[in-house]
Amino acid sequence: MIQVKNLTFSYTKKPFIQDMNFEVEEGEIFGFLGPSGAGKSTLQKILLGMLPGYQGSAVVGGVECSKHDAEFYQDIGVDFEYSTMYEKLTAKENLEFFSSLYDTSGKTDGAQGGKKKRDLDELFAAVGLENDAEKRVSDYSKGMKSRLNFIKALVHEPKLLFLDEPTSGLDPANSRLMKDMILEEKRKGKTILLTTHNMQDAAELCDRVAFIVGGQIYALDTPHNLIMSKGAAKVTYTWLDDEMIEHSASCDLLELSQDKRLKNLIAENRLQSIHSSEPTLNDIFIEITGRTLV
Ligand SMILES: Nc1ncnc2c1ncn2[C@@H]1O[C@H](COP(=O)(O)OP(=O)(O)O)[C@@H](O)[C@H]1O
Ligand SMILES: [Mg+2]
Repeated sequence: MIQVKNLTFSYTKKPFIQDMNFEVEEGEIFGFLGPSGAGKSTLQKILLGMLPGYQGSAVVGGVECSKHDAEFYQDIGVDFEYSTMYEKLTAKENLEFFSSLYDTSGKTDGAQGGKKKRDLDELFAAVGLENDAEKRVSDYSKGMKSRLNFIKALVHEPKLLFLDEPTSGLDPANSRLMKDMILEEKRKGKTILLTTHNMQDAAELCDRVAFIVGGQIYALDTPHNLIMSKGAAKVTYTWLDDEMIEHSASCDLLELSQDKRLKNLIAENRLQSIHSSEPTLNDIFIEITGRTLV
């Protein structure tokens, strides 16, 4: 679906995207994970054809991004990082307007021979905005705008979705709801490009993740492989000494059999607790890039 080769881009003299290479398969959720300012939104904008002055190649749906015409956008849904609604219109008027921009003729999976669009009331209900559809967007909170922006990307049943920080600013319940909807779109066969600085979202949603810092890709793999690549799981255990003071120690899971203290504690039946823990994607991100995700 997407092929990027030796992609380099600059807003000024300094390079903001540096020699990136990756491909995105049809039907996958591909994540750009990196801290603020890493270049995630810039990369999405290049793939959307909004920043045509790049070097190298970025092909989406078989066409070079700098050469996309209006037809390209019929099958693209974008949830920009910032609200893109008309504040004086109601939420429903906004969606009706944006929905009307998409062509309903020529494609044949709709009831009237046109391309089927999503039912707006159903979309509002899906993100818990069914009672707010008639409100002006200027009266919406940040989280409500974020949910509205997301369903706007879905109105025309696009094949390819670009979601820029879709869960940022949402409370845990709405974040969960949004993530479930993203997974539902994947089940329907959509290809999804997602940017996030939230490693939990990346681990939960993405089939593959690219670690991005300073406009460069530092690693690219499935979340599981990334975790396992550096992932010496640790075992932590605690015990009480003769004065009933608690102590703890840890060792790598793979070196467990060589830990003499642990052996003795087991033999003497003195272990208070023992648990193992894998590194998180966050730990791996720091280890590989030397940066935190904030
Ligand atoms: N229109 C612009 N002109 C100049 N610099 C920009 C512009 N947009 C973004 N940048 C800079 O490019 C870098 C990457 O930004 P961005 O792609 O928005 O990062 P992210 O989405 O990962 O937070 C940042 O240093 C940002 O300040
Ligand atoms: Mg961004």
